[in-house]
Amino acid sequence: MSNKELIAKLNNKNAVIGIIGMGYVGLPLMLRFTEVGYSVLGIDSDSSRVSKLNEGLSYIEHIQSDKITLSRKRGFVATADMARSVEADAIIICVPTPLGAHQEPDLSFVTGAVDSLLPYLRRGQIISLESTTYPGTTYDELKPRIESTGLIVGKDIFLVFSPEREDPGNTSFITKTIPKVCGGITEACLEAGIELYKHVVDHVVPVSSTQVAEMTKLLENIYRAVNIGLVNEMKIIADKMNIDIHEVIRAASTKPFGFVPYYPGPGLGGHCIPIDPYYLTWKAREYGIHTRFIELAGEVNGAMPAWVINKIASALNYSGKPINGSNILILGIAYKKNVDDMRESASVVLMELLRESGAEISYSDPHIPTFPEMSEHSFNLSSIQLTADTLATFDCVLIGTNHDAFDYSLIQEHAKLIIDTRGVYVGSYSNVVKA
Ligand SMILES: NC(=O)c1ccc[n+]([C@@H]2O[C@H](COP(=O)([O-])OP(=O)(O)OC[C@H]3O[C@@H](n4cnc5c(N)ncnc54)[C@H](O)[C@@H]3O)[C@@H](O)[C@H]2O)c1
Repeated sequence: MSNKELIAKLNNKNAVIGIIGMGYVGLPLMLRFTEVGYSVLGIDSDSSRVSKLNEGLSYIEHIQSDKITLSRKRGFVATADMARSVEADAIIICVPTPLGAHQEPDLSFVTGAVDSLLPYLRRGQIISLESTTYPGTTYDELKPRIESTGLIVGKDIFLVFSPEREDPGNTSFITKTIPKVCGGITEACLEAGIELYKHVVDHVVPVSSTQVAEMTKLLENIYRAVNIGLVNEMKIIADKMNIDIHEVIRAASTKPFGFVPYYPGPGLGGHCIPIDPYYLTWKAREYGIHTRFIELAGEVNGAMPAWVINKIASALNYSGKPINGSNILILGIAYKKNVDDMRESASVVLMELLRESGAEISYSDPHIPTFPEMSEHSFNLSSIQLTADTLATFDCVLIGTNHDAFDYSLIQEHAKLIIDTRGVYVGSYSNVVKA
């Protein structure tokens, strides 16, 4: 069998698209495939998520429920039953790729998803892995598993890697307008991959192999991690020199070529930038290569929460108070502005460090009404309402995440001491310490 039948089905939109993992990546992808007219089967092992989706409800703040309801009308159905994957002509895998206890890649979600697919694979399907991973994963981990069923990749069934470039909360780019890189195991795989994505994104970028596609995603994220590390180091130097790093970045950004602004902060956060670089570090060791840039950036970025704590300690000390016993309000506990995602959030690391030092912690985050259950962190707290009176009761207010929803003038007028880790305040104020 060639890929012609599959390509025809994808082209006339009779193909059913199966998406495994209905999270931050899988959900927007589902919305886009249903928008252009495909039926989508969303497969997720979390049955509470499946029930919500089938009721037309979202569990991600920036994806509104009415979009899920509309997609249900357009032919989307969610299931926890992997056996239904047999109905799908294309199977897109968007499951987590975290790190293990020793910062090694944890591919168990990917291999688990693929292993549970195996009994239902059939000729004429295409499988696309979108989860971020090290070069070689698709070829070394997926291809042999798939071929253990007797199906030959490139002949009976098609396999590509196409990294996700989702940026949750960024309204300037949507799935349709973000170019999509795609690499296939064979030419026939790539041809089918291009057909899969060309109806949902304006521009598919074919590359010569799955390894190139995997490495492309890592370059993009490592580029961010290293540049954030650089600018965090610049922040520490600028602080000692009494220079506002944010003013420097604004000025440097006027250069029309050769400079891309990156911003310092309280530490890295999210499911990608603190994690993905170590996928390459781990793989590079197999080739005897030590990834010095990656690890140096990790070291600098990882030291940021402690640096911020020092700034808090010296600012409180200035007014005769220790951290121990101080009332500290954290503004923003999501890992970045305007989202409700708390994965690897630096604010939570700061909360832990402040609590360890004896501070009384409160938080306010309009996107996270109650501190959720997290595997490594536990706070029995709910978001407080920001008023002039409540702000004035705290010894210190720490801006951890610069959500647009905060009233920064109100905060500046009524807080005794503000530690600004995001460069919110331009110019100098007697109660603002930039950190
Ligand atoms: N979040 C982002 O902004 C982003 C951006 C680009 C790339 N990525 C990459 O995309 C991948 C997915 O990330 P995410 O943020 O969407 O994760 P997520 O945690 O939001 O969603 C993953 C979903 O997969 C489900 N799942 C896990 N194992 C499963 C299995 N075996 N079968 C079926 N469902 C399963 C989970 O229940 C969950 O709903 C990761 O590799 C990540 O690095 C994420």
